Amino acid sequence: MNYPQFPKNCTSLLCKYLTPEVFDELKDKKTRYGYTLEQLIRSGVENVDSGIGVYAGDEESYELFAPLLDPIIREYHGFGPDDRHVSDMDPAHLQIGNPDPEGAYVLSTRIRVGRNLHCFPLGPNLSRRERLVVECMVSDALRALEGELAGSYHPLEGMDKETRERMIKDHFLFKEGDRFLEAAGLNRDWPEGRGIYHNTDKTFLVWVNEEDQLRIISMEPGADIASVFGRLAKAVKSLEKRLVFAFSERLGYITSCPTNLGTAMRASVHIRLPKLGKDMEKFKTITDRYELQIRGIHGEHSESEGSVYDISNKRRLGITEVQAVRQMAEGVEALIEEEKRL
Ligand code: ADP
Ligand code: ARG
Repeated sequence: MNYPQFPKNCTSLLCKYLTPEVFDELKDKKTRYGYTLEQLIRSGVENVDSGIGVYAGDEESYELFAPLLDPIIREYHGFGPDDRHVSDMDPAHLQIGNPDPEGAYVLSTRIRVGRNLHCFPLGPNLSRRERLVVECMVSDALRALEGELAGSYHPLEGMDKETRERMIKDHFLFKEGDRFLEAAGLNRDWPEGRGIYHNTDKTFLVWVNEEDQLRIISMEPGADIASVFGRLAKAVKSLEKRLVFAFSERLGYITSCPTNLGTAMRASVHIRLPKLGKDMEKFKTITDRYELQIRGIHGEHSESEGSVYDISNKRRLGITEVQAVRQMAEGVEALIEEEKRL
């Protein structure tokens, strides 16, 4: 493999940190699961409009390819090579109120964490057979859940088109055909081995074998963030009794994309902000202050519709789960205050 050519206007972190020196240092390295630099960077090389551009193939990728990944991690999360990640998912430590008790702005709240099984490579490097074993282990663990978390697993293979499209539109199911994931090898053998688990009310859901092997999701209408977090914490605890998740002392929970390391948590609200939506400069000043990210109504790489935005924590590493959720809640309060003032 030769040093990749990036266009002059390329702004990905891959393009920024893959210097010819780093490339030469890493180009012949291979993890014990056989993951190479070429695989690590393929998504960003094929999609030059990437924000990041890399996907790890296993936990070892983060050590072996550290000369490229550490600077990316530092820039995205503000987390240095000597920092250590600390986890705190105790709902008793959250202590926040509902930022929109009258329901005038917030339509719904969703908090998800990514997880991967410690004894397997990550999705980009998972064989067809391993993916099926992961699906089997995860769906078995899910079937053992009880009470509010009890539900059923629905494989993507064989699901009728109408059901699939409705679940995507209603924000419950992942989209398909993402070109970033495609180039990373995450869509191989699609849709085999992928699926969704949900309880009756669809307030607790788990995506299986998408970007990460598990995306554990708690969501509900309104802005009762503490209730959503409490349900998620309970679910994660129950699943940990049956599954061992990949976790590093330094980087926290291991995920295929470095943006998700650490808590692997994205806590978001769908919020209607017609006035702030017309003043993006002011909007961004507030979201930057609280380190929040603005996404569109259908998630990543989508646009806002009807002045509804998806607002979530940007940092996931070097911050506890409780801190990430609290920061999101405080930012949402500040956004609502400004919207009222306008
Ligand atoms: P992820 O959250 O896993 O990073 P996406 O940004 O693609 O991935 O979002 C996945 C889905 O979750 C999308 O359909 C998105 O609209 C939906 N979603 C995100 N936040 C909320 C929310 N607060 N309420 C309802 N749906 C949400
Ligand atoms: N690989 C894509 C990029 O670099 C997405 C990165 C963050 N999002 C994600 N779903 N991992 O722009």
